[in-house]
Amino acid sequence: MTTDSLFQPFALKSLRLKNRIVMAPMTRSFSPGGVPTEGVAAYYRRRAAGDVGLILTEGTVIGRPASSNDPAIPRIHGDDALAGWQGVVQHVHEAGGRIAPQIWHMGIVKPHASGWLPPTPMEGPAGLVLPAQEGGAAMSEADIQATIAAFAQSAADAKRLGFDAIELHGAHGYLIDQFFWPGTNTRTDAWGGATIAERSRFAVEVVRAVRQAVGEDFVIILRLSQWKQQDFAARLAETPAEMEAWLGPLAEAGVDIFHCSQRRFWEAEFEGSDLNFAGWAKKLTGRATITVGSVGLSGEFIAAFGGESSSPASLDELLRRHARGDFDLVAVGRALISDPEWVRKVRDGRTDELRDFSRAALAELV
Ligand SMILES: Cc1cc2nc3c(=O)[nH]c(=O)nc-3n(C[C@H](O)[C@H](O)[C@H](O)COP(=O)(O)O)c2cc1C
Repeated sequence: MTTDSLFQPFALKSLRLKNRIVMAPMTRSFSPGGVPTEGVAAYYRRRAAGDVGLILTEGTVIGRPASSNDPAIPRIHGDDALAGWQGVVQHVHEAGGRIAPQIWHMGIVKPHASGWLPPTPMEGPAGLVLPAQEGGAAMSEADIQATIAAFAQSAADAKRLGFDAIELHGAHGYLIDQFFWPGTNTRTDAWGGATIAERSRFAVEVVRAVRQAVGEDFVIILRLSQWKQQDFAARLAETPAEMEAWLGPLAEAGVDIFHCSQRRFWEAEFEGSDLNFAGWAKKLTGRATITVGSVGLSGEFIAAFGGESSSPASLDELLRRHARGDFDLVAVGRALISDPEWVRKVRDGRTDELRDFSRAALAELV
């Protein structure tokens, strides 16, 4: 099948992309003290020079004392880190690319393997790291308001630094998702509740504050997932109606693009249709969507962390769904860690030159 449909330009508000391929956000922990280095800038620049349409940076954490569990994860607050990001943006733009930071608060997660701990206890909706398991502090009303303001501040700073859009990390069991999920949000006040619509209030308020901070014309992407690192089988929406109750208010609050994280993009979201998460999100909200999950690779990424290698795989099923209009953009993760030239090789049909992915590729910034 021809890959031409992936090489059509994409335009939304002030965002202009030369093609439909997005680099998925991937934590690399090569930013000592939270400051992106020249090496980080060169790493993203190589992907821009390799014709990635939109680079989503690794998760970069907001100005809350316990937004991160690893000091080598970049911050998106503080003059030193913001200056580092400005260098990254400049490099990417010089190479003809577009870039958006993935703005992140981890919430309550297991401590990092290094044993490093943030200066204050980790914070989440109800103090839980897993269902019924304490792991940090339950956020007060003041904590919640300050956290919403910190998301908005980072988004405003990203726009000021010249980023082309922003992505909010609302997926994979981190802070925003900890509010969505009843397993970690057992609050009985207005930030909790029995329905997904009630538990979405925190995310809605974050999106509203970010919209206020960046203006109407700047693209806001929201990354969501049903699965959580705490529970791969967890689901926030069991039916299309529940998914509409989840996504509708977020779209209304100002999300332009839903980035629908699956581990395998071809898996159907609900019985009776082969539409995946991105397909349903687009159908239910009318917003643009990004699909992701094992694009161009034989194995999925959690198994890759466990040491399983992946080899190049056909794009035919992806192209079939894209041609049908299920999603607008396609995010590629590990294939772009191994190979900054992946996009060009795909465009030029040089499939024999595509590389395998193995965990060893994470040891350095290629
Ligand atoms: C090393 C690594 C780090 C990741 N870090 C993040 C992250 O910071 N934020 C995020 O939303 N997803 C993260 N992910 C998930 C990827 O964005 C992507 O969804 C996943 O790898 C599936 O895409 P792939 O099969 O093309 O690799 C990470 C994945 C990998 C492999």
